[in-house]
Amino acid sequence: MYTQALDLSQAAAGDASDREANDRFEALIAADRKIEPQDWMPAAYRKTLVRQISQHAHSEVVGMLPEGNWVTRAPSLRRKAILLAKIQDEGGHGLYLYAAAETLGTSRDQMVDALLSGRAKYSSIFNYPTLSWADIGAIGWLVDGAAIMNQVPLCRCSYGPYARAMIRICKEESFHQRQGFDLMLSLCRGTPKQKAMAQDALNRWWWPVVMMFGPSDSASMNSAQTMKWGIKRISNDALRQKFIDATVPQIELLGLALPDAELRWNAERGHYDHGPIDWSELDRVIAGHGPCNRERLAARVNAHENGAWVREAALAHARKQQTRTVGVAA
Ligand code: 3HC
Repeated sequence: MYTQALDLSQAAAGDASDREANDRFEALIAADRKIEPQDWMPAAYRKTLVRQISQHAHSEVVGMLPEGNWVTRAPSLRRKAILLAKIQDEGGHGLYLYAAAETLGTSRDQMVDALLSGRAKYSSIFNYPTLSWADIGAIGWLVDGAAIMNQVPLCRCSYGPYARAMIRICKEESFHQRQGFDLMLSLCRGTPKQKAMAQDALNRWWWPVVMMFGPSDSASMNSAQTMKWGIKRISNDALRQKFIDATVPQIELLGLALPDAELRWNAERGHYDHGPIDWSELDRVIAGHGPCNRERLAARVNAHENGAWVREAALAHARKQQTRTVGVAA
């Protein structure tokens, strides 16, 4: 999908004093055109893209863990097949995104090392536990629903490889969201015990999902610049509001109680009002002190160490293939 052997000698030079190149870059951004890997770009634009895309890739990969917890306990073969396919999709999203970030001159090894050493961030939402089968429905419906809300505007991101990766990812996320809602609907139409399980999952996931959009606009350090560059198109608060407005009618359709006593339609604003968000919880989870941060990172480190022989075998195979190709050509 993306070339991984780019000639970055010119691009990486990123000489901000090169006024002509900077003017060309600004003109492309102003015209809403795409910036491609071989184009000159300011060093800060490159850095912020690597930051955001690699965090996003890590989120997809770590995001496989809470759901993986339920593969062996899915209640039917059909649900198990759906869950397995979804988890595989998330792994695939991580790969597209690592590849998109590599076009900016960073290597997959560097990005993975940053994750495993705890230097890189990934989404706060994946640091919460999956305690019941209804949590799998809540993740698909709410977490993937929030991800779509955030990621559809990224299909118009000014950086070409990221925007193109997002188009495919969003199509898959939309299936994920539907299967989650379908699971919740089955539980809500089931026994009182099943419906109570769905309600409990909604109550536990609601606030973490609302926070997943990031800090409020007034506290968001990166938004102003990334919006100016056309990376981010809609602010954290505006996306959060869009998500709440779209989700409340779905909660009502499921026949579940609203998870926030202050959620009510404000006809004047044309939006739902909601209760106060406990930002200290988001800060704690981002800082590594959420319910499952340690467990998630330990699982990734373990998987990386256990996979060392696979990487070595793949490299040895590639070297053998190369020797054979050279031998045939000679
Ligand atoms: N979890 C962890 N860190 C978060 C966060 C969250 N929910 N929200 C914000 N942060 C971090 C930011 O990364 C930033 O830290 P940094 O400067 O050290 O990188 C800091 O908090 C301040 O936040 P800002 O609002 O200034 O940061 P951004 O402008 O980058 O906005 C974002 C944050 C909205 C997450 C943005 O980076 C973004 O849109 N990223 C792309 C989408 C993404 O990564 N989604 C994650 C979920 S993916 C997913 O859910 C997978 C799916 O399969 C379900």
